[in-house]
Amino acid sequence: MKKMVAPSLLAADFYNLSKDIDIVNRSEADWFHLDIMDGVFVPNISFGIPVVEAVKKHAKKPLDVHLMIVQPEKYIKAFRDAGADLLNVHYEASTHLHRTVQEIHNSGMKAGVTLNPHTPVSHLEDIIEMMDLVLIMSVNPGFGGQKFIENTYHRVEQLRNLIEKKNSQALIEVDGGVSTDNSAQLYKAGADVLVSGSFIFNSGDPVKTISELKK
Ligand code: DX5
Ligand code: ZN
Repeated sequence: MKKMVAPSLLAADFYNLSKDIDIVNRSEADWFHLDIMDGVFVPNISFGIPVVEAVKKHAKKPLDVHLMIVQPEKYIKAFRDAGADLLNVHYEASTHLHRTVQEIHNSGMKAGVTLNPHTPVSHLEDIIEMMDLVLIMSVNPGFGGQKFIENTYHRVEQLRNLIEKKNSQALIEVDGGVSTDNSAQLYKAGADVLVSGSFIFNSGDPVKTISELKK
């Protein structure tokens, strides 16, 4: 497994965002994870395109954008223009997921599909070969700082088996409640990329915390 870390800026200090962007730039983190919430698909509103553009200006690592919005296909080009390198859309929000993935690729980005905790991994059987990444939610999306759902390990193992069976190149990313309490077991189950927000930015030394999450 790859053992990558994508800090979620949802837990950053929005008064002094450049400080937290610099922390990620000089850490061992691999990507920036940006959580876009619309107050419809999830019961919370976060930030939108102008913030993604601002982060892109200072970020020295790729932007992994997690859309928690209805009708994500409407905003593919807008997020590409704002600087997204990888665009994650929710399975539950995408009526025509195959077409949406094609459009993400045609726009020049990597494509990820995100599964809520109740969505069976097997639903990806006929699309896994075209995915660059699958994001397994280990909490119900909408808020940072929630408790990790233990069934996630089993879901990561199921997804790893599906990826191998179909000879897919997709990376497995896990998001929600990730800390050093579960990181080693997640990599062992087959995860490649761990998203972490509050555990990193609420720690005394985020650079060190990021490197501990990669062990
Ligand atoms: C939740 C978001 C997560 C969130 C993770 O809906 O998708 O990316 O920022 O935050 P923590 O690590 O605090 O659970
Ligand atoms: Zn996220």
